Formats: sequence, C-alpha cells, structure tokens
Amino acid sequence: MSLPAVVPAPASIEAGSGAPFRLTSATSVSGEEDAAAALGALLDARTGVTPVTAEGDADIRLVIAAGADAESYRIAVDEASVTVTGADAAGLFYGVQTLGQLVARDGEGWAVPAVTIEDAPRFAYRGVMLDVARHFHGVDTVKGYIDRAASLKLNALHLHLTDDQGWRIQLDSRPELTEKASGTAIGGDPGGFYTKDDYREIVEHAASRHMIVVPEIDMPGHTHAVGLAYPELAEDPVISDHMRQIVDEYGGTLPEAGVPFEALAVGFSSLKIHDEATYDFVADVFGELAAMTPGPYLHFGGDESLATADDDFAYFVTRVSALIADLGKTPVAWHEAGSAKDVADSTVGQYWGYVTPLEGFAEKAQTFVDNGAGLILSPADAIYLDMKYPASSSGSAVPELGLTWANGPTSVERAYSWEPAEVIPGVVDDAILGVEAPLWTETVRTAADIDTMAFPRVAAAAEAGWSPRTGQSDLRTWESFRTRVGALGPLWTSMGIGFHPSEEIPWVTE
Ligand code: ACM
Repeated sequence: MSLPAVVPAPASIEAGSGAPFRLTSATSVSGEEDAAAALGALLDARTGVTPVTAEGDADIRLVIAAGADAESYRIAVDEASVTVTGADAAGLFYGVQTLGQLVARDGEGWAVPAVTIEDAPRFAYRGVMLDVARHFHGVDTVKGYIDRAASLKLNALHLHLTDDQGWRIQLDSRPELTEKASGTAIGGDPGGFYTKDDYREIVEHAASRHMIVVPEIDMPGHTHAVGLAYPELAEDPVISDHMRQIVDEYGGTLPEAGVPFEALAVGFSSLKIHDEATYDFVADVFGELAAMTPGPYLHFGGDESLATADDDFAYFVTRVSALIADLGKTPVAWHEAGSAKDVADSTVGQYWGYVTPLEGFAEKAQTFVDNGAGLILSPADAIYLDMKYPASSSGSAVPELGLTWANGPTSVERAYSWEPAEVIPGVVDDAILGVEAPLWTETVRTAADIDTMAFPRVAAAAEAGWSPRTGQSDLRTWESFRTRVGALGPLWTSMGIGFHPSEEIPWVTE
C-alpha cells in the first residue's frame, strides 16, 4: 500500500490496514481552540466541510501533551477518529498542517487514510527570506507568505528590509530614512515602507503561525539608500566594470550619491567606517529594532561589501556584532562576516555560497562554527528562489521571472538534491542551526510572482530543514519528493497558492 503524501517528509509514517476516516458535515472536533480554528480554515478551503466544535472526545481530537521534543507531533488516524497530539502549540499546529495534506477525495467523498505519523524537525531554524527592498511587498503579501511558509513547517521569516534601492522600516529615532529613502524601487517602480504598526502586525501574524521575524538591516555595503537620508554617513559610490556591464544588460543608470538607485548592480556602497556618527546610527537602528522584535535574532547583512576595504570591514563587523550582542540579541550575518576573526562569538553565519563551496567560502563560514554559534545554510545554487526555472522540454510555459547568476536556471530537482550535512566539509548537524530559502526581488513585483518563484521549490528547502537526512529515510529521494509534492497541487490551489506547474512534478489534479 502506498504511503500518503506528506511534505516535508515526516520522521516516521506507517500506513494502517483499516478503512479511512471519513469527513462529513457531522464530523466534530475538540481540543485546543487555535489549532481547531487553523484546521477549520484549512478543511473549509480544501473540502467545504468545517468540523463542528464539540466538548469531550470528538471525532477529531487536537491535544497538547508536553514531554516530547519541541515542535514534535503525533497523528493517529483510524476509521473512527483522528487524534493529533502536539508536544507544544507549534507541534500541534504542524500536526494540523500534516492532517490538511492527508485529506483527499475518493469515490465516496473526503477521507483521511488510516495512518500513524510521528514527526519532529531535524533543525530548529527553518526559514524563508523575502527581500522587500528591491521591490516593496506590502503587509498583506507578507502575511500571505507567512501562511504559505508555515504550512510547510517553516518557522522563521527573514525580512531583508534595506538595500541600495530603499529603506523599508520606519524608525522613530531616524525618521528621515523612510521620509527620504523609501519612495522608489528597481525599474522606477513605486517603493514603500512598513510603519511600526505594520511591522507589529507582521510580527503578530507570524507568531500566530509559530514563526519568528528576523529583521535584516544590511551594512556596511548595500547602503546607498542610507546616503539619501544621511549623506554624511555614506561614502561615494565606487563604480566597477562589472557594474557597468550589469547596468548595460539590465538597464537603469549607475549609482550617484544623493540620487535614488533603481538598477540592479551590487557592491558599490559603504557606510563611513571611521566616523563615530556611523556607530551612533547603527546603535539607534538596532536599538529600536531590538525593542520591536520579540524574536532572538537581528541580522546585520555584511554581504558583498566590495566598496569597503578588508580591514575596515573586519573592524565594522566586529563592532556591530558586539553592539547587537550587547542589546541581548543574537547577531546574524551573511558568511562574508566570518572573514572578521573577532566577530562576536554569538554571531550566527548565513552561508550563501554554492552546494559545493567556491574557494574561500567554507573558511569564512567556518568562523561561526569555531565560535560555537553555527550556520544557517542557504546554498544559492539550490535554494535561492529567485533563480529562473529551466526552459521546458515539452513546450509548457515557464515564467520569465528570475535571474541566473547563481548557476541558474535552477530546477526543482536541483533545489531538492543537496544534503545540509555535506555542504561545508566537517560541518554536520550539531553546527547547523538550520536552512533558509531566500527570495530576492529584483524581478519579483507581486504576490503572484512570489508564489510562482517560491512554489514548488520552497518545499524542497522545507524538506532539507525539517526531514531526516538523506539516506536515513526512504522518503528522502527526489523520486519520492516529486510524487509527494505533486499530490499537494489541489491543496495548494485551495490555499490560493499560484505555484509554477513545473513539468518535473507529476501534478495531481482533481
Ligand atoms: C547575497 O546573496 N548577497 C546574500
């Protein structure tokens, strides 16, 4: 008997031999209210049936029983009942997401196959990143992405809030940032920013889906927008031949101090490293952000600071990571910050090199491992969701969206076929905090664009973050994954997810 399709693959799943549980308009649910509401919404969208709330032992029981590992859950389904038991509220929420995937239509109506699932995450940190600087994405779009990511048991939303093209978060201590540096985006598109209330709304919505928000303020590079608000803090742009090529290829004009930047090139901006006013600014920004952010992490970027001298970069990274640690938060930085050997010990590195690291990348990432803080893995040639999809061999439509610089185009199979413990030599599970799939938005303008680029590839990242390692479960193969993802097509459609119907996946339709 084939196993029901669950993504990400659970730690253990056993098909039962009995008849399935049948979902009807008389089906009752009891237990935790939040989980019952989440299940009701999911089942209503998928089947049109909403279970009725009951006291005591209903047909579907949603229970929290402390004692097992954080975020873990168990599901037992037989003909008479469904019991979902979470070790905590997050575990129960994940059990509900799995139950939503198990529901399918058969000849007699809506059914959940008899099954027992025991499940727990491999890694504590499972994230998506959304770049809201290159193109701004409003609160509703972000909330929608939270819902989608949480359905795959992802638990962190990293918001890339600032870049050369715009500053997207209002701060009382530095109001000019949004007044003067948020109005534009790539290609002359409108900009935008989150008010403090907007940010609170995002954080609260994320928490209701058991996700934390990890805000990133990228520095010392990627800071042209800071110079629009505070010219005294920014160096003049440094223009390279590579930038000229990019602007020739993708359009727009080269950066100019004091003028909004609407093109794609990177690596030309830097904050002033040897001016105390810079550190007053950094203290204001991260101090305010720390107070607004209940999650433990503050990300300070540190990538592609090509216009900052190496010694200056190390000095800056050392100082800023210490400042964030002193605020009682855990600093996070892209792996380049690992070139600073005195980066604060608690700093988590985010590796964005390839699945097979290019020269020098693994060494930088190793700093964070040696310090004991560890790594988040975001291999760009696998799980950068903004890479183009490959051309179709059957003539089916493929989105125009996306870039190719990270060894793209990137197939769903490539997004899937890597193993976290085999990226940085010697760095295995105890030094890996988790996995995160970034979505940069140079070409991504709308919520529909986000869906197209993220789905189905984000499910591959979710499986790398949640499921047993490759080789330790029969389910952890590309063949199994493509079949299981294909089975989710109708559920994703019911959730309003406009996924790319990649020809690599055998999509189920109803
Ligand atoms: C990055 O892709 N620059 C982190």
